[in-house]
Amino acid sequence: MKEAIDRICKELEELRASTQKEAEEARIRFLGKKGEITALMEQFRTVAPELKREYGQKLNELKKTALARIEELKSAAEEAAQDLAPKEDLTMPGDAFPLGSRHPVSIVRQQIVDIFRKFGYDVAEGPEIEDDYHVFEALNFPPNHPAREMQDTFFVSTGHVNPLLLRTHTSSVQVRTMETQPLPIRVVCPGRVFRNEAISARAHCIFHQVEGLYIDKNVTFADLKQAILLFAREMFGPETEIRMRPSYFPFTEPSAEVDVSCNICHGKGCNICKGTGWLEIMGCGMVDPNVLKASGIDPEVYSGFAFGMGVERIAMLKWQVNDLRHYFENDMRFLQEFATATEV
Ligand code: PHE
Repeated sequence: MKEAIDRICKELEELRASTQKEAEEARIRFLGKKGEITALMEQFRTVAPELKREYGQKLNELKKTALARIEELKSAAEEAAQDLAPKEDLTMPGDAFPLGSRHPVSIVRQQIVDIFRKFGYDVAEGPEIEDDYHVFEALNFPPNHPAREMQDTFFVSTGHVNPLLLRTHTSSVQVRTMETQPLPIRVVCPGRVFRNEAISARAHCIFHQVEGLYIDKNVTFADLKQAILLFAREMFGPETEIRMRPSYFPFTEPSAEVDVSCNICHGKGCNICKGTGWLEIMGCGMVDPNVLKASGIDPEVYSGFAFGMGVERIAMLKWQVNDLRHYFENDMRFLQEFATATEV
């Protein structure tokens, strides 16, 4: 029996198992019902009484050692199995971190502002939540002008003389500039505006404008025309021509709508310019004397011009985008088309 115990001891020391299954087989071999150690336990009954103590201890120790050894092999095999389990493949190329870029509307707004800055204009900004006075009253809108009505304007508060509303144009910033800045004034006012319009390929209830105002002594319609022509050539290319069509705005007199020659067909007529060769880009005019007076400027001494354009519209023309809604959906595939379009 002694030899058997020593042999098993040695075997246990040398025992190896590379899988859990092998470790379990070893357990069965030594400690199972018909296992070698179990068999020795059986034999123990026949051991002479004077040897019982010695062998009893040895057998107990052997059993403990075997249990511990097999446990050890099992956990080692388990760890090895985990190591072998398929992990992330470190040789795979990494996921590219998506790089943001400026929104096309921001790019064009900046281009417009930069062009006028070169001409010596300052930039002025004002609140998006405005009052009736700065959006309509001071701009010579008659009291019942349709633009004030609910279908065009989002009112924030009603029921008093000067209700709060979301500005429908950034001309309100021009009023604030005339109220506070010394003359002469030369500003552009970029910003977000709001109109209660059904959303379509050509209209949105939120869009962006850049409006401009120039007030000094002896400012004439010729100055306005020259400023717009220079702007159009910077924006759409040096070949660009402009034309002005008479129009009406409460705050300018005379007023005009400005078209630029179509930069796609160069005047021949295409589906972008609907065969006319011209694309409408902005409204403009000489500041109405009533507007100057409302802001405390003497129309006998000073005169000025104003213009206003929609940034999305300019962006659509510049990049031949046929649906305004693309600019608001923020589909990454669309936005990324403009990731490198930062040049003026
Ligand atoms: N405020 C006008 C608009 O929003 C644009 C405009 C500005 C027209 C200045 C003439 C002069 O439509």
